[in-house]
Amino acid sequence: MSSEHGVEHYHPIDAKILDKKSDLVFNIFSKVQDDSEDRFILYASKEPRYREKVRELLQSSDFTEELYIHEEDLTLYFDHATNSLRDYVINSDAPPEKKMEKVYDLSRDVTQQFFDTNASPEILRGSDKVVDLMGKCLDNNELGFYGLTKIMEKDYYTYTHSINVGLYCMSFAPKVGIPADEVHELGLGGMLHDVGKSKIPREIINKEGALTEEEFEVVKKHTQSGEEVMKELGCYGEKAIQMVGQHHEKYNGKGYHRGLTGNDIALFARICKLADVYDALTTRRSYKKSLKTLEALTIMKSKMEHEFDPKLLNAFIRFMGPQG
Ligand SMILES: [Fe+2]
Ligand SMILES: [Fe+2]
Repeated sequence: MSSEHGVEHYHPIDAKILDKKSDLVFNIFSKVQDDSEDRFILYASKEPRYREKVRELLQSSDFTEELYIHEEDLTLYFDHATNSLRDYVINSDAPPEKKMEKVYDLSRDVTQQFFDTNASPEILRGSDKVVDLMGKCLDNNELGFYGLTKIMEKDYYTYTHSINVGLYCMSFAPKVGIPADEVHELGLGGMLHDVGKSKIPREIINKEGALTEEEFEVVKKHTQSGEEVMKELGCYGEKAIQMVGQHHEKYNGKGYHRGLTGNDIALFARICKLADVYDALTTRRSYKKSLKTLEALTIMKSKMEHEFDPKLLNAFIRFMGPQG
């Protein structure tokens, strides 16, 4: 068996979000155990001659078993899944939290793939569509901040942290007068703010416990390398790029990597910093527990106040506070 058929090359999918009306553009596999070894067999083929059969199969299946695709089809799958999810978000009568849950799951999958495997620009570009879906879920504001936090993962991973920051930025935006047509870019910048971490050795990113001084110096490079990644891709606006490059700047000038002060730090980056710190405090890591909303806001106000834009910090506390 050649290595491309190895278990590590198959990626689990959420078959429930497949669009059963359109034709498959990738093969779907199911997993079987053979002599205690996992093997993947074709479940539904993309070949045109099986089109009718596959359509019947997909429409009749309740997808109780786990299904997979080959990793070379990941971009196609994400594309298909986002389109199908858009249809669901716009047209289904499902409650807003159900819709957001599905969008969150797909976003997690896309972002995890980006950070954990190949850091591919094609997958990164998919984040644009995902942020669009987040915006649609947040638009009617039925979900509210509390509903949103119930959906979010509370264990810290770079990929869930990225999505959480994007969502906090987007839901906070109307409270500080960000025009509706700029919220997408704010969400995108929030979701990609740590994109530079894809360039940092994984042992450092996933290290349990405190970093050494040298390791911290390496981590600090992620704002600059993130900015470079964004510019290389050439499809992001200036404000999203500023969020990536400036989200560790501090209002008192003691941040990195430029040491900008006060309102020299771009507005979107000042918003991103609030969301970034808040999510880091309220998520669990192996070496620290997660804080409750009120505890996190108290620390931000009493111990870190000089790091934030004071007006934005107060608005953030008003926005997050009452539900905590
Ligand atoms: Fe960061
Ligand atoms: Fe971050």
